[in-house]
Amino acid sequence: MGEYKRPTVSIVGAGNVGEHVANLIAIKELANIKLFDLPKKTEDKTFEVVKGKALDIKQMAAALGVDVDIKGYNVTPDGQGYEPMKDSDIVVITAGFPRRPGMSRDDLLTANVNIIRTVAERIALYAPNAVVIVVSNPVDVLTYTTLKITGFNKHRVLGMAGVLDTARFKTFISQELKVSVSNINCFVLGSHGDDMVPLISVSNVGGIPLKKLFTEEKLKELIDRTKYGGGEIVNLMGTSAYHAPGASVVEMVEAILKDKKEIMPCSIYLEGEDARFYEAYDICIGLPVKVGAHGWEEVLKVELSQEEKAMWESSVKSVKSGIERIKELKLI
Ligand code: NAI
Ligand code: 2OP
Repeated sequence: MGEYKRPTVSIVGAGNVGEHVANLIAIKELANIKLFDLPKKTEDKTFEVVKGKALDIKQMAAALGVDVDIKGYNVTPDGQGYEPMKDSDIVVITAGFPRRPGMSRDDLLTANVNIIRTVAERIALYAPNAVVIVVSNPVDVLTYTTLKITGFNKHRVLGMAGVLDTARFKTFISQELKVSVSNINCFVLGSHGDDMVPLISVSNVGGIPLKKLFTEEKLKELIDRTKYGGGEIVNLMGTSAYHAPGASVVEMVEAILKDKKEIMPCSIYLEGEDARFYEAYDICIGLPVKVGAHGWEEVLKVELSQEEKAMWESSVKSVKSGIERIKELKLI
């Protein structure tokens, strides 16, 4: 018997985030899954961890009574072993180093950009029609790198960050008000980093604006906790988060596979009329977009308040400086 007739999602980098993405896709029976990672070498043995993880998730699926095809493949840092990625519908990039305590996302830039270059070249070769979701950090700069290296249409390259940052903001609001997260409507835009932009002017709980529900001081506390939400977990766990990031990626995967046309904040390439509206040119940065079968379809134009505009500008500046750095280093 052949594989289940389902779309295929390839995940490059089956570490903490990658394996949680695979896990959730399997549980939701959304797609067949292909995992790619480097073998792990110790002094006396080479472990094919990615094959082990695929087998473990396959057996988890049996225990849960769900049917999904999942396989693991060894790859090399110079890009060998990617042929099975052929004809994937979606490729998720979670390869690279996570943030350690004391490290900023931008410290990761040079370490991860070379990895992503090779992965992007292989995606262009073997999965030329895929929608790509970039997760590795610094995500906005690496989304830009992926777009440039693959040469894909801008609509097919999305960075995951805003869905996660928004989930964190919702968590803190819901804990404070003791209200269901499903009653909270909010968006976090801009860069994934300390310069992210929580869109207070359009955020509400059950239709009531946040500014009416919280004092200025409390709201600032919630915003600050959201901004440093990634760092809070790094300091607790010694490595970065993976449950919420994994779920956030799967939210995007599901919107694409089901052509949901869901509005979610994603890091996307800005040019033309959208760039003019947001006054940010030739960068990838988080904005609310409609996500469907072909990737992101349309940018929503949200009027920013004076305060949000200032935060947006520093967000744009920080992503720009990362992009300039990789251009200086001639990495793209
Ligand atoms: P991890 O270290 O657990 O997993 C990374 C995996 O990438 C490892 O299994 C490693 O072997 C693999 N890898 C390294 N070089 C590779 C190469 N050349 N080819 C193929 N695979 C390679 O890290 P984790 O926690 O899964 O994080 C992955 C990335 O995602 C990090 O850069 C992290 O900062 C980022 N991240 C981004 C988030 C976001 O909101 N955008 C949220 C959470 C993590
Ligand atoms: C996070 O926000 C480190 O980007 C990662 O959890």
